[in-house]
Amino acid sequence: MAQQQSKIVNGVNVDGLFQTIDVIKEDPSIAKFNFRAKNEWVNGAENKTTVSDFYGAGKTHVRSKPYVFTKDEPEVLLGTDHGANPVEYALTALAGCVTTTLVYYAAAKGIKINKVESTLEGDIDIRGLLNLDENVKVGYESIQVNFKIDSDAPEEELNELIQIAKKHSPVANTISNATPVNISLSKEYKMTDDISSFSSETFDAIEKRRAVKHFDENHKFTEKEIEKLLSLAVLSPTSFNIQNWRFLVVKDSKLRQKIRECAWDQAQVTDSALLLILCADLKAWEKKPQRYWKNASKEAQDFLVPAIGNFYKENEQLQRDEALRSVGISAQTLMLAAKSAGYDSCPMIGFNSQKVAELINLPKDFIIGMMLVIGKAKEPANPRGGQLRLEEVVFIDRF
Ligand SMILES: Cc1cc2nc3c(=O)[nH]c(=O)nc-3n(C[C@H](O)[C@H](O)[C@H](O)COP(=O)(O)O)c2cc1C
Repeated sequence: MAQQQSKIVNGVNVDGLFQTIDVIKEDPSIAKFNFRAKNEWVNGAENKTTVSDFYGAGKTHVRSKPYVFTKDEPEVLLGTDHGANPVEYALTALAGCVTTTLVYYAAAKGIKINKVESTLEGDIDIRGLLNLDENVKVGYESIQVNFKIDSDAPEEELNELIQIAKKHSPVANTISNATPVNISLSKEYKMTDDISSFSSETFDAIEKRRAVKHFDENHKFTEKEIEKLLSLAVLSPTSFNIQNWRFLVVKDSKLRQKIRECAWDQAQVTDSALLLILCADLKAWEKKPQRYWKNASKEAQDFLVPAIGNFYKENEQLQRDEALRSVGISAQTLMLAAKSAGYDSCPMIGFNSQKVAELINLPKDFIIGMMLVIGKAKEPANPRGGQLRLEEVVFIDRF
């Protein structure tokens, strides 16, 4: 039987909208929604808020993935500028809500909208926040929203839509009509089976990181960006803190070309913004090991520094294992850091290690762990090759 097509206006399923209205008229309890957010303070002004489920239409709905919003303050307000600040988020919430309300009402009225843009501005006197003057309002003194709407509808109808949107937008109402806000203190942190807050931007980066092969050859990194990535890499853990990785940044384009020739001509070697050769010093454990614990207490130093030598000496296999362990962990740090910053990467072992070692004058005690390219993707990675199921790779207690 042929299915009847739903009427869609402005991307909104109008038949669905009217059906929903009819159902709610019959059973108003369906209209009760409960929205939730979880927030975690990071440091200073930085917070992360996660939205992952809500209650509505009689049941709890879990979002397809948790949405994480980072908030921070700009430097002038003593933050680290890792995200928009909370009052800017209030403007974004208002913009989104008024726009959606406007578009839904337009759809219901059969008014086709081609484009809607809006600008929002709010004035705040931070003396209210700082408790410097009782007479100064703490929040926005006023908010100005200005809409540009491209539609064939007459201006009169568009103005009417704006008024309807203002009247019926939940966020506009939350802001303009006093809403009670109750803030209380929970007594304890509890272990819970609820994993909805078990998410973060790191989870996101892990899920989104892929080995990308095609990079935008025109995209370059600034020295600051490279330094930032490397300064994160050196926070990667190493056994006994021996920090045995050594990162070679290949800047010379001719050298990159030569390395590409030793890597089956893989384009990412020259086209990515950054080519790193992740090496390790096999003998880091015996080279002035006291420097790895210089900030530790005397007791810790006296115990740890000789222990390093005892652990690695005369065990070349272990020295090599340690080198590759450290390189591997630092590679993942770099790849996730790059992904979090909006870039992509590709770890690489498809090259002639001996020839590359000659090209970069690899010192005697060093080995190459892998190469790593980072840059701006030109094409997404291929679909995942096929992940093994957890049951195939996870074992409990014994094999
Ligand atoms: C140590 C290592 C070496 C790799 N070498 C190469 C390489 O030389 N060239 C390449 O195109 N991909 C290389 N890859 C990428 C893998 O093929 C890729 O990580 C794997 O297929 C899983 O895909 P995903 O990283 O997109 O999830 C390498 C990955 C690792 C971890």
